[in-house]
Amino acid sequence: MSLLILENVGKEFGAIRALSQVNLTIRPGEVVGLMGDNGAGKSTLVKIIAGNFPPSHGRILFEDREVHFARPIDARSVGIEVVYQHLALADNLTASANVFLGRELKRRVGPFAFLDHAAMNRRTAELFRELKSETRPDDLVRAMSGGQRQAVAIARTRLAKAKLILMDEPTAAISVRQVAEVLDLIHRLKDAGIAVILISHRMPDVFSVCERVVVMRRGVKVADKPIGDSSPEEVTALITGAKEAA
Ligand SMILES: Nc1ncnc2c1ncn2[C@@H]1O[C@H](COP(=O)(O)OP(=O)(O)OP(=O)(O)O)[C@@H](O)[C@H]1O
Ligand SMILES: [Mg+2]
Repeated sequence: MSLLILENVGKEFGAIRALSQVNLTIRPGEVVGLMGDNGAGKSTLVKIIAGNFPPSHGRILFEDREVHFARPIDARSVGIEVVYQHLALADNLTASANVFLGRELKRRVGPFAFLDHAAMNRRTAELFRELKSETRPDDLVRAMSGGQRQAVAIARTRLAKAKLILMDEPTAAISVRQVAEVLDLIHRLKDAGIAVILISHRMPDVFSVCERVVVMRRGVKVADKPIGDSSPEEVTALITGAKEAA
């Protein structure tokens, strides 16, 4: 079974053609690198998959059924989650509060409902254990490293039972050690059977964690191949147009 299929997906913004005739298949648990120069259409593609806006043309199938996402919550309800570069976390809250933000567990005592902090902390600790992260449930996000913040964001997606995680440049603005942590977390997601589409300009990241690389140029998919059948040199040539397609 395929997890996600895009069929002839196109997108226009007024006179600008951001995507044309993109076909893409993602299998469960697959980690795919999405590369391309600035303006190539990577974020547009990911935003369509995430339900930020509909495609102008084409079809989207998720688990072999056609889907029409009107808004991000529609994509989230089938198991598609986005982890943004500037992770949308509340700095003044704890890791556990961030993991449960908008899905808080409550405990009723007579007519009153209280937040069940103990239960949320226990579940968050379990998620961090699964992710082999040292992050603690009651640590404040404000004081965390990029990798720990990523762990919080990923724990959120685990709680949501995500099947596909979209990452738009998660390692663009963080330190070398934090990049290693993020890549490590991607490996763990894969081990848990969760598929990842990783948008990155960083060749070493894509070649270390992805099993397949997709290259976009000016809205067109110009390559889609197993990582072992390509090389950073070839991908660079495809990105710049020195090589037409592969
Ligand atoms: N909301 C929008 N309105 C108008 N044009 C847009 C919009 N979003 C993207 N575009 C245009 O669509 C094209 C593709 O943009 P997109 O953001 O998908 O590129 P990208 O590959 O993510 O680039 P980068 O590497 O710089 O993030 C660009 O020409 C961009 O200007
Ligand atoms: Mg982008």
